[in-house]
Amino acid sequence: MIKQSVNFESLSQQVIATLSTDIDTLLSHAELPSPLKEACHYAMTGQGKRVRPLMAACAYHTVIYSNTAVDSGAETLSDSVLTDNCRRAMLAVEFLHTYSLIHDDLPCMDDDDLRRGRPTCHIKFDEATAMLTGDVLQTLAFEILTADIEGFQPISDEQAAKLLTVFAPRARRMVSGQMLDLNAENKEITQAELEAIHRDKTGALIEAAVLMGGVCAEASAEQLAAMTQFATNIGLAFQVQDDILDVTASTDILGKPAGSDEGLNKSTYVRLMGVDSATDYAKSLFVEAKEVIDDSFMDKNALNALAEWLWQRQK
Ligand code: IPE
Ligand code: IPE
Ligand code: MG
Ligand code: MG
Ligand code: MG
Repeated sequence: MIKQSVNFESLSQQVIATLSTDIDTLLSHAELPSPLKEACHYAMTGQGKRVRPLMAACAYHTVIYSNTAVDSGAETLSDSVLTDNCRRAMLAVEFLHTYSLIHDDLPCMDDDDLRRGRPTCHIKFDEATAMLTGDVLQTLAFEILTADIEGFQPISDEQAAKLLTVFAPRARRMVSGQMLDLNAENKEITQAELEAIHRDKTGALIEAAVLMGGVCAEASAEQLAAMTQFATNIGLAFQVQDDILDVTASTDILGKPAGSDEGLNKSTYVRLMGVDSATDYAKSLFVEAKEVIDDSFMDKNALNALAEWLWQRQK
């Protein structure tokens, strides 16, 4: 008998609460001069959806629940905790992601003035501070995976090395994707080229989140391979959705400027195939992602609920 499935709602709430406390604790202990410290805190808070930490947590629980047989009573999520290493993974992806957003919004990139429902970092502070805030969040993301942090059990060298091996190349791929995204402005590109951009600029970090959750749960090589396939699909789907929402959702809902892509003549899925076909495509990627999980894990609840939740945000 396997443990009772993870309840996605309670997992979400647990992730948001834990992450918020951990971000505060971590930044309050970081030695940073003003206004860097304030800018880090500002950027890391606001209306962020915390999608990547949630992905890490879902992946973690899917593996734990699939690999643990219990003989006495059902153990629900409320009995379980996010381990310290899983909390480190959640923080690392959210720090790196937030850095990518700050730089993405700079005038030299997408030049946006609203993020997470508030003025972007360079508007609230200034460009130099925003650039340095991105830099320091990036370095903190790596520090979090290795350093002794107050309130966390020390991480073993072996576990830190495994997490860094997953994380570092995907952080680099995010930057490559951003370069390709800028290169593709004002150009007609093929679907294959666009897919390569999206897989790197957004998909890579989503892969990192899912795989780090798996690594924290001691996933087998086969499980990690299935999770990679799952993450590759939802990573691409997530950016296709982001392209769609840029034209279908309001600035209020998004917490960032709607219509930003069109203003910059970006290469997006909407531009390539229109809203309806892009929506069908995103849906098919989510379906494929779920099939991989259905075929590979005894407990499918957390990752499949995650894919469903991501799909629903379309509506
Ligand atoms: C926005 O990511 C940038 C993309 C990669 C699409 P999110 O939509 O996850 O942004 P937050 O973290 O909720 O602000
Ligand atoms: C950004 O893609 C992906 C990143 C690596 C930050 P977008 O430029 O489409 O993200 P938004 O729409 O500004 O959040
Ligand atoms: Mg961009
Ligand atoms: Mg942008
Ligand atoms: Mg976008």
